[in-house]
This record gives sequence, structure tokens and C-alpha cells, in this order.
Amino acid sequence: MELTIQKTSNPKPKPDQTKLGFGTHFTDYMLNMDYTQDLGWHNTRIEPYAPFALNPATMVLHYGQGIFEGMKAYRRGDGNVQLFRPRDNFNRLNYSARKLCMPKVDVDHVMQALKQLLQVEKEWVPGVAGTSLYIRPTMIATDPFLGVRASFTYRFFIILSPVGAYYAEGFNPIKIMVTREHVRAVRGGVGDTKTMGNYAASLLAGQKAHDAGYTQVLWLDGVEQKYVEEVGSMNIFFVINNELITPSLSGSILPGITRDSVLKLARQWDMPAVERKIAIDEVIAAQKEGTLTEIFGSGTAAVISPVGQLRYEDQVVTIGQGEVGPIAQRLYDAITDIQYSRSDDPMGWIEPVA
Ligand code: COI
Repeated sequence: MELTIQKTSNPKPKPDQTKLGFGTHFTDYMLNMDYTQDLGWHNTRIEPYAPFALNPATMVLHYGQGIFEGMKAYRRGDGNVQLFRPRDNFNRLNYSARKLCMPKVDVDHVMQALKQLLQVEKEWVPGVAGTSLYIRPTMIATDPFLGVRASFTYRFFIILSPVGAYYAEGFNPIKIMVTREHVRAVRGGVGDTKTMGNYAASLLAGQKAHDAGYTQVLWLDGVEQKYVEEVGSMNIFFVINNELITPSLSGSILPGITRDSVLKLARQWDMPAVERKIAIDEVIAAQKEGTLTEIFGSGTAAVISPVGQLRYEDQVVTIGQGEVGPIAQRLYDAITDIQYSRSDDPMGWIEPVA
């Protein structure tokens, strides 16, 4: 594989692994790769982490033609570093690319390039419990042009960030608020892709929830505002009558890799697990009847995030006495045990790096 490495003369001091937070520290190197119509993807290179100089007319800055992924590298007990289902992330990037009229990447090529980047940066993979190296592959439209069309040129880059817990609550239950005033995405749109604008579109509702004392927004469908879709930037699961339920991928929901892992593990454990439409009224009714025992979010950043309280209009309901439920706990343990190789990997989800 053609790949050049430019060494830094200025390595940074590593941050305190017990105070990493999320997304504030960046490593010494990044991966870059360019696309033109003539050459396709070319010039794959590992370079010192540095700001970009962008023409102010660069298309991504105006029309949001940009997509990204989120994945993690984990340090095992024996010191080795590994990835969790990384090819699924790059396949999803290609799905996002197709919907945003952007060029696909070659999954084998970017996998190899990522592994080389991680080889160079392996000292940056933290080893303290609950930490990992967050990986952010990103693709942006780079034509300097103000007409609305798909760009002809693109930049793909990967940056790395040593992280701890995503939420200040850690694995403790979060409080969520249902919004009917705002919607995240609609069927036929781009809600099922990891495109930048989806996150921008979530901010105002998120701010309002935060001001009301809630950690995240629970999103309802964009058409009827009746069916549950996602929570914050995560997929959502309910346990009702001992059955695990998650909204089916309707076209406006992100096909989460952690979501898929939860479903596959539950099915392997013979736990009833269904994907179907679930109305917010059904959730509230189940809570009143005492059959709703757990709600949790799933995502790369937080893995599993239990929900302790839910507000829907003027009703505030507590889920599972506001404590972490047994299914959320079991899933969190099972997924993180695989990610850190504290257990074996029957599903073949682990990809070794170094
Ligand atoms: C995830 O948890 O997978 C996310 O998408 C969160 C990320 C945007 C920080």
C-alpha cells in the first residue's frame, strides 16, 4: 500500500489518563487522503496533527457535504491494542457517502491506513479502566465553489483522541426529555447517515433539554411525532415484559454498530429482542402498568447509557427506581469485555492492531 509518513519533531505530552473527558485531547499524527475525479483517492499520508488551511469558499463550510464515523481502539490487559468492528464503521461511512453524493473509500485500504496510524500512535492508547482511543474518520467536500452541487474534490482524514466516559454521569442513569417541538430527521432524509448536519440539527433541542435539567433529548419520528426514534446521539432500547425492544430502522434512524451488537448478543442469549415501531404512549403506559423495567441508549461513545428518568410533556416517570437495570449492566459488561478482550470473541468482532 502507498502510504507516506512524515515525522513530527514536536511530540506532545500525554494527558492524565484519569482526567481525559471526551474529545478534548488529540494525538501527534493524523491520516490524510485526497480525492479528485482524475486520480480517485490518492496521496494517503500520515502527517503531524495540524490545522487545515481552507479556502473560505470550501463547499463543506457552506452546504454541509461532510460525513464522519466514530470508533475506538482499546488497550487490552496484555498491552496489545485492538479495534471493535471497524469494517462496519467504514461500510457505514460508504453508505453515508452514497447518500451525500460523496466518493466511497476502499475499506481494505482505509483499514490498513488506520492500522498504520495506530501503530505510530500506540503510546496514545490509554490503559486506565474505561478509557480508549476514539477514532474519528471524516470526509469533507473541498471544492472552492458557491453553487449548490456535489463537490468534485474531497479530503478524507482520521484524527485520534484519547477519551474517558462520554457523559459526566459515566455509567450512571441519565435523565432524558421527550421533545415534540423539534425533530431530528425524517424518512427520506439523511437521518440514517452520519452527516454533520444531523448533529447541528439536534443542538437547539439538546440545549432546551439541558436548560430543563435533562442530559439528552428523546427524539420522536418526524412525521407523526408519535414513535420513538433515538436518544441524543444514541440508539434507544426498552425492556417491556422482559422483551428487548428497539425502533426498527425506518430510514431516519442511524444504524448503530453498538445497536446491532446489542441485538446480536441478546439473541445469542435467547433473550427476546425485537425491532419494531414503538410509540411514546406505549412506553408511558408500560411504565404505569409496571411492565417497563429498563430504558437505555447505545452508541460507540457511551457504549450503553442507562436512562433513569423520562419526561414527556408534563409527566415525569422514573425507570427501574432510577438505577442501572440488569440487562443494561449485562450488555455493558459483555460488550466492554469483548472490546478489552477480558472475554473471548465468539462473534469475531475484534480486529487486532498491535
Ligand atoms: C456515538 O456514540 O456513536 C456517537 O455518535 C456520539 C458522537 C457523535 C460523539
